[in-house]
Amino acid sequence: MLHSKLKPFPKDFLWGSASAAYQIEGAWNEDGKGISNWDKFVRIPGKTFKGSNGDVAVDHYHRMKEDVALMAELGMKSYRFSVAWARIFPTGKGIVNEKGLQFYDDLINELKKHNIEPILTIYHWDLPQSLQDEYGGWESRKIVEDFKNYAITLFKRYGDRVKYWVSLNEQNIFTSFGYKTALHPPGVSDEKLFYQVNHHANLANAVAIAEFRKYVPDGKIGPSFAYSPAYSVSSKPEDILAAENAEDIQNNWWMDIYAWGTYPKAAFTYLEEKGLAPVIEEGDYEILAQGKPDFMGVNYYKTTTYEKNPLDGVKEGVFNTTGQKGTTQSTGIPGVFKTTANEHLETTNWDWDIDPTGLRIGLRRITSRYGLPVLISENGLGEYDKVEEGDVVNDDYRIDYLRTHLQAIQESITDGVEVLGYCSWSFTDVLSWLNGFQKRYGFVYVNQHEEGEHDLRRIKKKSFYWYKEVIKTNGAKL
Ligand code: BG6
Repeated sequence: MLHSKLKPFPKDFLWGSASAAYQIEGAWNEDGKGISNWDKFVRIPGKTFKGSNGDVAVDHYHRMKEDVALMAELGMKSYRFSVAWARIFPTGKGIVNEKGLQFYDDLINELKKHNIEPILTIYHWDLPQSLQDEYGGWESRKIVEDFKNYAITLFKRYGDRVKYWVSLNEQNIFTSFGYKTALHPPGVSDEKLFYQVNHHANLANAVAIAEFRKYVPDGKIGPSFAYSPAYSVSSKPEDILAAENAEDIQNNWWMDIYAWGTYPKAAFTYLEEKGLAPVIEEGDYEILAQGKPDFMGVNYYKTTTYEKNPLDGVKEGVFNTTGQKGTTQSTGIPGVFKTTANEHLETTNWDWDIDPTGLRIGLRRITSRYGLPVLISENGLGEYDKVEEGDVVNDDYRIDYLRTHLQAIQESITDGVEVLGYCSWSFTDVLSWLNGFQKRYGFVYVNQHEEGEHDLRRIKKKSFYWYKEVIKTNGAKL
C-alpha cells in the first residue's frame, strides 16, 4: 500500500534505546556477582574478536548516573536494560545478593526520576555458570524452576515501578548460537540438543509469564524475538517454498509458541521425521498455553533471502565477525533452504542486508498472524565510527538507517499495526558479543577498544542530536 498521508506516532509512544548487562556493565566480579557463562566463554582463545570481553565493557556499573543523565538530555521516554542473573543469584539460585538487587533499584529510581520508563529484560544471555556446571543450564528441565524463582524475585522487587518487561531476549539466537553453530556458550554443535534446549527455554518463558500475572497484574510482558523475515530470491515456486520453509523453521517455530503455545505443523513434522523434534512431556502444552504475552518484542536488523537447497546442499557456512564485507557464506539445511545474497539490497560491512521495508513486512506478518501489539525492542546499525577532531562523530549512515526504519514503522502504523514503542540498539556503544568494540551501534560513542587502556569517555554522536529532535517532535520530524 502506498499511503498519501501517514498516521502520526501514538501520543504515548515509548521512544527509547536498549542495552544488555554483559555488554555494558563491566564490574564482572564486583559486589558479590557470580561468574556467568560469558565470563567464562570469552576467556577461551579465539572465541571473540581479538579476545575482547565484558570485564570492563563500557563501565556502566560505575557510570550509571552519568549514562542516565545523557538519556535524560536526549529526552528518552524509555530505556530497555537487562538484569545480570548472576548479580542477583551468584550461583543462579539459593541466596540472593542484596548488592546486585540494589544496583538495579538505583538504576530504576534514577530512570524514574527523569521520567524514563524502564523496560526490564529478565534474561539477555548471561547465564550463571554454576547452573551450566550443575545440570547443563538450558539442557535440563531443572532450569525452568530456577528461572521462575529468579523472575519472581525481580517481579517482587521491581514490579511496583517497572511496568514493561521482556522475558527472554532472542531465544532463537542464544539457543542456536549456543547449540547449533557453537558461536556462543557453551559452544556446542548438536542439532537434536538444540531443539530440546529451546523447548526448555519455551517452558521457562511461559512459566515466567504466567507468574508475572500474579505479581505485576498491571504490567505488560513479552519475549524479544530476533525476527529476520524470510524472502524468496526469485518467483520460482521452489524458491518460494524454500522461503516458506525458512519462515516456518526460523521464525514461526518461536513466535507460534509465544503467541499460541504450539509448534508450526510442517516444521514439526519435518523435525520428527529427522529425529530432531524435542521431547514434549505430558502437560507441556498446557504450560505453554499459559504463557501468552501482551506484545511481541521484535529485534529487527535485516531480512534474509532464501533459495532452494538440494538434498546434498550446503549446511553451516562462515559468519562474518570481522567486518570484512563479503565474507559471509551461504548457510542452510539440505533439502529445506539455503541463504543467498539479495541483489536489491545494500549491506553493512558485516553483510547484514539494509532493508527498512523488511521491517514493515515483518510487522505486518506478526499483526496478521497473531494480532498482537509489537514493541520494537532493538533496531540499529552496527558500523565502524570515527572520532574526528574536537570529539565529533559524524554518523550520518546511522541516521539514514534509523530514519528509514522509523519511516517504515510509521507506514506500518498507518497499515494498522499497533506499535507500543521503539528501542534503538543501542544507547551508548556496547561490547558486541563476537565483534568487540569495532562494531558500534550507540548514539553515544564510548572511548573503549579491544586492546589497551582507554578513558571510557562518552562522546555524543551526530545521531544523538538527530534522535533528540525526533523524540521532541514525537516523530513528526524524522
Ligand atoms: C542482538 C542482541 O542480537 O543484536 C544484542 O540482542 C546484539 O545483544 C545485537 O548486540 C547486535 O549484534 P552484534 O552481533 O552486531 O553485536
